[in-house]
Amino acid sequence: MTNSAESFWWYVTLEGGAGSEDVLASLADMSGSIGSEESGVEPAVRLRAYYRSSQDLGYWVERLGEALTPWPEVKIADMGKIENKAWHTDWKEAFPPLPVGEKLVVLAPWHRGSEPEGRMPLYIYPGSAFGTGYHESTQIVLVLLERMKLAGLEGADIGTGSGILAICAVKLGAGRVLARDLDPAVLTEVRFNLGLNAIDAGQVVPVEGNLLEGMDAPVDFLTANIIIEPLLEMLPAVPGALKEGGRAVFSGLLLKERTRFLEALEARGLYPVDEISMNEWWGVAVEFRSERPQG
Ligand SMILES: C[S@@+](CC[C@H](N)C(=O)[O-])C[C@H]1O[C@@H](n2cnc3c(N)ncnc32)[C@H](O)[C@@H]1O
Repeated sequence: MTNSAESFWWYVTLEGGAGSEDVLASLADMSGSIGSEESGVEPAVRLRAYYRSSQDLGYWVERLGEALTPWPEVKIADMGKIENKAWHTDWKEAFPPLPVGEKLVVLAPWHRGSEPEGRMPLYIYPGSAFGTGYHESTQIVLVLLERMKLAGLEGADIGTGSGILAICAVKLGAGRVLARDLDPAVLTEVRFNLGLNAIDAGQVVPVEGNLLEGMDAPVDFLTANIIIEPLLEMLPAVPGALKEGGRAVFSGLLLKERTRFLEALEARGLYPVDEISMNEWWGVAVEFRSERPQG
C-alpha cells in the first residue's frame, strides 16, 4: 500500500477554456490524482492536480496524457513538487461519504463506524489507483450494477483500478469476480480494499491482464469502465467471454460517443437493456444474445 505520510507530492496544472472546471476535475480524478484545486479562472481555467510521490512524475504525466486524449483543448500548463504540510488532513476531508444510487455508499476507511443507515457500504482507500467512486464513470456502473440481479453469478471486471466495481458486485450477491487490470501496480490496492470489505481473494480474484485476453471460461457478467478506444477494441471478444443471456456494463464513455458505441454494440449481438448519463459521461448495460431478438 502507498504510504500516506509521504514527504512531498507531485502536482500538474491543467489549463482549459472557459467553463471547463468540471472537465479538468474529472481528468485529474481519472488520472489517479489524490486531490485537486482551482488555481486560476482568468482568462483560462486552471486546475492544480496532486499526485502521490510513490510513483515518479513521468508515470503520472503518462496517465494524464491517456486521460487527455479525447480533450485536445486541455493543456498541461506546468508541473512540479510540493512539500507535505497540512495536506494530509485536507486530503482526508476531501473524501466525505458518497451515497450512490438507491442503496450504496462509498466510504473511506476512516468513516468506518459512521455508516449511513439503509445503504450498503463499499470501503475504498483513496490511493493511487483509479476508482475512489467520485468519478461519474464509476458511479454509472455502480448504479447499473445495483439494478441487476447478480445473486450467485460469476463475473469479470476489466480495468478494475481500486477494485470498487468487483467489490460492489460481490456485495450485491455475485459469487466470484475476476478483477483484471493491465497495470499490475493497482492489484496491491485491490487486495487492500478487499481486506477493508472482508472479501477474500477467492471471491474477488485480482489478476493482471489486457482486456479479455486469456479469459478461457465465459462468465455471466462483465463490467468495464475504461475509455472508448479500448472498449471498442474489446467488443469483438465480448460474445466469447459471456454466456448466452449474459450481461456487460460499459462506462468511461462520453455522452457524445453514445451513437458510435451503440452501433458497435449492435454489430456484436450486444443489446442495450439499461443506460445512464451523468454530466457529460454515459454508460450502458447490454445483454448478449447469439440470435437477434424479435420485434
Ligand atoms: C477509469 S479506470 C476504472 C477503475 C474502476 N474500475 C472504476 O470504475 O472506478 C480504468 C482502469 O483500466 C485500466 N486499463 C486501461 N487499459 C486497460 C487494458 N487494456 N486492459 C485492462 N485494464 C486496462 C487502467 O489501468 C485503470 O485502472
